[in-house]
Amino acid sequence: MAYIKIFDTTLRDGEQSPGVALNTLEKSEIARQLARLGVDVIEAGFPIASEGDFQAVREIARTIDQESEKVIVAGLARAAKGDVERAAQALEDARNPRIHTFIATSPIHMEKKLQLAPEAVIERAVEAVTLAKRFVDDVEFSAEDAGRSDPEFLVRIFQEAIDAGATTINIPDTVGYMMPWEYGDLVATICRRVSGIEKVDVSTHCHDDLRCAVINSLAGVRNGATQVECTVNGIGERAGNASLEEIVMALSTRKDFWQHQTGINTRELYRSSRLVSGLTGMAVPPNKAVVGDNAFAHEAGIHQDGVIKAVETYEIMSAETVGRDAGVLVMGKHSGRRAFRKTLTDLGYTDLDNDGVNVLFRQFKDLCDRKRTVTVEDIRALVDAETTRVAETYVLEAVQFQSGTQMTPVATVRIKTDTGVYEEAGTGDGPVDATYRAIERITKLDMKLESYEIRSVGSGKDALGEVSIRVTSGGSTILGRGLSTDVVEASAKAYIDALNKLAAGLAKTSAPEGKVSTP
Ligand code: KIV
Ligand code: ZN
Repeated sequence: MAYIKIFDTTLRDGEQSPGVALNTLEKSEIARQLARLGVDVIEAGFPIASEGDFQAVREIARTIDQESEKVIVAGLARAAKGDVERAAQALEDARNPRIHTFIATSPIHMEKKLQLAPEAVIERAVEAVTLAKRFVDDVEFSAEDAGRSDPEFLVRIFQEAIDAGATTINIPDTVGYMMPWEYGDLVATICRRVSGIEKVDVSTHCHDDLRCAVINSLAGVRNGATQVECTVNGIGERAGNASLEEIVMALSTRKDFWQHQTGINTRELYRSSRLVSGLTGMAVPPNKAVVGDNAFAHEAGIHQDGVIKAVETYEIMSAETVGRDAGVLVMGKHSGRRAFRKTLTDLGYTDLDNDGVNVLFRQFKDLCDRKRTVTVEDIRALVDAETTRVAETYVLEAVQFQSGTQMTPVATVRIKTDTGVYEEAGTGDGPVDATYRAIERITKLDMKLESYEIRSVGSGKDALGEVSIRVTSGGSTILGRGLSTDVVEASAKAYIDALNKLAAGLAKTSAPEGKVSTP
């Protein structure tokens, strides 16, 4: 069986999604999960784009590579000296570093954006690959907007890049323009015409503007690609990138057709999806394949009847295979700490220290008092919220509210800080608005709520509500998350989480950092 490498770019291209602003802690948490998931390459960021990006790549290179022997950490660099050097610096401590350098090759990009003749573009590509090779063995070269480039020119530039030492060549459909047959033919042409191509990896990188990112990637694999670039939940620039979970499950569910394998532990797919959605604040549509709420739900009576008789009648893959066993735990309020720790270990949370387990255990007990049944998903949501929590400058002590159809909603909030305990009341359009106004009265910070999302963890009237918000303050963007069986409390927690991240200096400046100008 041929091995297909999975190159995850959630932390780079995915992070370029409008409104997404992950701090280093959150990026590291996602990177750890990607390593657990079994991706071959983690593209951790674009080091020259900002100090924050540089630090995140550096941190991930330091920590991930020590934990996982095989995972490669990549940093993106335009085909320019400063970019390549910065990427090399960020990757200094990585066990398996990769510099990923790119330059645009389509007539429109070369003429309008780069204002360079094709020969000069080839020269820059060769210089960048040659320079990158001085720092690392593993160099990827991408021809940006390959989808709208002249195939003859692509054959030339890829040939030169390989001759200069590139170990992976990537064929991006940057603007999501291509149809699957065209993209497949392009990959086939490059594989046929470039000499020495069999010694390097050929990679796909497809965007979803015409909803063809996944199918184009698969067409690439069908025609010789050995690496697929993708993101968890398909997040990314504009309409997004090819979705990792869909590609992996297509290859795995139809192994009979593909005869290919990946290193992905499919049972970690759902957890990865939930984590990325929670930290980026980008909700997963219910009908999204593999990870959407409805992906394994059967509504029509005839389908339900079939599934009861034999699940294969309407299910081509099982929910368990992708880690969606939201089963009820055989644990409850009488369970002890030791049993709780074992459950965490069984769920794959092996790296929690004693303090972390103690905090989670208290939260678990608290949840048992509020909820009839505590599910695996509940535990996962608790752990995910806890592992990205920052030092608490603001501690939410209490929130109380009154609301109804015949009254103005009013909320009272009590917050503890280093300087004392403060209580304020606020009114608003609803209980969440009133709560946020009360918090603002205490903090006196000028924060603007840009987006607010709520989702339920599992189902049932007593389900946990998970709130994700995005707020801006000055030039900074911060995401906050809160979890509770009470949605107003979850909303207050999300706001406090954002405030604490701001206080900890973990906000991201709102300049579109990933979108640096051309070299
Ligand atoms: O879409 C694209 O072309 C990219 C490159 C930087 C690989 O993201
Ligand atoms: Zn891209």
